[in-house]
Amino acid sequence: MPSTVKDIVQTIRNELSEIYPSHEAFQMAWLIFEHLYGWSKTDLMLHDHTKLTDSDHLFVQKTLERLKKHEPIQYILGETEFFGLPIQVNPSVLIPRPETEELVEWVIQTTSKQRSADILDIGTGSGCIAIALAKTLPNAQIHACDISEKALQTAAKNAKNNQVKINFEIKDILNSTSTRNDPSMDIIVSNPPYVRDSEKKHIQPHVLEYEPHLALFVKDSDPLIFYRAIALYAKTQLKKNGNLFFEINSAFGEEIQALLIQNGFRNIELREDLSGKCRMIKADKPLG
Ligand SMILES: C[S@@+](CC[C@H](N)C(=O)[O-])C[C@H]1O[C@@H](n2cnc3c(N)ncnc32)[C@H](O)[C@@H]1O
Repeated sequence: MPSTVKDIVQTIRNELSEIYPSHEAFQMAWLIFEHLYGWSKTDLMLHDHTKLTDSDHLFVQKTLERLKKHEPIQYILGETEFFGLPIQVNPSVLIPRPETEELVEWVIQTTSKQRSADILDIGTGSGCIAIALAKTLPNAQIHACDISEKALQTAAKNAKNNQVKINFEIKDILNSTSTRNDPSMDIIVSNPPYVRDSEKKHIQPHVLEYEPHLALFVKDSDPLIFYRAIALYAKTQLKKNGNLFFEINSAFGEEIQALLIQNGFRNIELREDLSGKCRMIKADKPLG
């Protein structure tokens, strides 16, 4: 492999050209240098003629080999960014997606920063939603749950690294019979698994082969299983006038809206993400 930064970036682009579009390959090249030296994209250009040490060179080579096997760059580097915050990731957690930042933004718009609210994130994974909310809403008490112990361990580490306090709990939301009559949450937010098994054939190998299927897939026979379970849970756990927020599969906006109406939720609002896909829904707790 050549050894100036400029040559290395070009090699990465060339060698990944059959797997990733050129701009994505460039992004990966930059992420490698950001990881190694903390460089911005401008820094990268200013260092065109810089030569790497042998050990850094070896690191880049090994990373490129793993990228060529479709391994996500975020898992290789062990980190990503969500809502401007550093988030550690590994194969036990989903890599946070930009559209989920839009869901977080919506929750924040709805919640006054002065208000002391109790917010629960169901299926927290890396903890990205809970941590972004805790960072932005310092007066809120943030709670988060997941069925995966390994995911919760990662989320707890991320909370510590970002210096926020979150109450984590291991919970299977599909088997959580909540009959308690003491609603304790002002907001429940969730980005649950929502990709149908039948959609696997359209999923890129870097997702299908590396990201946790527990976080992604649902059976075609019941694609709304999580939405139904979480809506029922939210009915008992949300305080009066509490809000429920979901990230959704864009193919199921109307069905999820209908499910929420059937369950008495009010003021249901569907929103598109920046790419124009119906991606999020908000609803108010049923009356009574
Ligand atoms: C789509 S991922 C979302 C992760 C993270 N909140 C995000 O937005 O990047 C769904 C999460 O739900 C969790 N999960 C799957 N089945 C669950 C269940 N039955 N009860 C609770 N959490 C579950 C998975 O472990 C995964 O972390």
